[in-house]
Amino acid sequence: MNNKTLVKNTIKPFNKTVRIEGDKSLSIRWALLASQCVGKSTSTNLLKSEDVLSTINCLKKLGVKISLFKNKCQINGMGLNGFKIKKNTILNTGNSGTLARLILGLLVHSKNKIKIVGDKSLSKRDFLRVTKPLEKFGAKFKTNSGKLPIIIKGVKKSRPINYYEKKGSAQCKSAVMLAALNTEGQTIIKAKKSRNHSELLFKHLKIPIKIIKKNKFELIKIRGKKKIKSFNYKIPSDISSGSFFIVLTALSKNSKINLKNVNINPSRVGILKILRIMGVRILLKNITIYKGEKIADIHVESVKSLKPINCPSNLNSAAIDEFLLIFLVAAKAKGVSYFKDLSELNQKESPRLKWGSKILNLMGIKTITTSNSIKIFGNPDLKINKKIIIKNYLKDHRIFMTSIIAALTFGGEWLIHDKDSIKTSFPSFLKIIDKLKK
Ligand code: S3P
Repeated sequence: MNNKTLVKNTIKPFNKTVRIEGDKSLSIRWALLASQCVGKSTSTNLLKSEDVLSTINCLKKLGVKISLFKNKCQINGMGLNGFKIKKNTILNTGNSGTLARLILGLLVHSKNKIKIVGDKSLSKRDFLRVTKPLEKFGAKFKTNSGKLPIIIKGVKKSRPINYYEKKGSAQCKSAVMLAALNTEGQTIIKAKKSRNHSELLFKHLKIPIKIIKKNKFELIKIRGKKKIKSFNYKIPSDISSGSFFIVLTALSKNSKINLKNVNINPSRVGILKILRIMGVRILLKNITIYKGEKIADIHVESVKSLKPINCPSNLNSAAIDEFLLIFLVAAKAKGVSYFKDLSELNQKESPRLKWGSKILNLMGIKTITTSNSIKIFGNPDLKINKKIIIKNYLKDHRIFMTSIIAALTFGGEWLIHDKDSIKTSFPSFLKIIDKLKK
């Protein structure tokens, strides 16, 4: 079957405890920030997926010494602005929007031109959202109509900026925060709420940062050019990866799952809130705080009936990577669900709003989709009896994994192409599925 997966049967009841791989957002941020520290930083449970390996390779190309072992990763930071940038440097950021956008923030001083490239999916995504604010710091960009490949040429002395982030994009916010870290003076960001791992890491590293919470946005004030000490980090499990198993359990019969040590940062738990509204029982146990991040074990059980949802759009940002899965739950709910203000979903590794709708239609679920919303006409009795083929989806890892969950819970015979896509974010995904089958 080389790079395709065939699923013919739904999953039998299971009751298991599993450990999900490390959080992708935190793994990339730890590596980027460790490169800016002075001295040796060590992480354990770093996610070893292609997005994180691309991060390590890009940093190595910038002269950073990195050793990757089985259970830990060591980065020898060279301090702020310490990259050794050779002429004609090309950084391959692979599939990772987070890496490509955040690393630009660290390059605003680059003496030499640097070219940023990415894979087919990343090369279709918008970069003006980061080059525009980074230009205000003084860096110069050449883009391919706002997309990759991009050439950045830094400026000797960058200027602090005022920036209004309106999309609720943590990548845009974090790219500006990293540029601010390397810039003397105060940068002020007015940001629509989005995941706040960068802010928590800045606080932990004692980088001067002030956050003023307003009703609909936050004001983030950063004073840059402060030396930062190296730091160690135990990366918790990724809730976005864990969500595949949360939804698998919710949609399966008589099953239970316990996910250990998951990052339940409030800016990431939109899926838990949405599923609870839809009637899924989710328990959080052993809650602790680790360097500002909230961690817990997540316990989920199957449900007999699911309620539809008119999803409040203030939950969108905290669930942005989980909507394909949430749409599957809506497909099984009794009634019509509605999700709005979701144009950002079409800006991901694939146009996910379109793909979410397409997968549901292939399953026999009616949808009404616009450029930023979807209505899903749920059917609690749905049993698929046909063959479904999923292919040509730009190898979007979350489309592959969502399709597997749909196949294991709704039935039918599914042939899902591009299995390798899981290497982007969750290499052990299929192994965990196998463990649940035993
Ligand atoms: C991420 C932010 C989100 C998310 C992505 C990871 C991050 O993207 O979709 O998977 O680590 O900052 P946006 O900032 O574009 O919403």
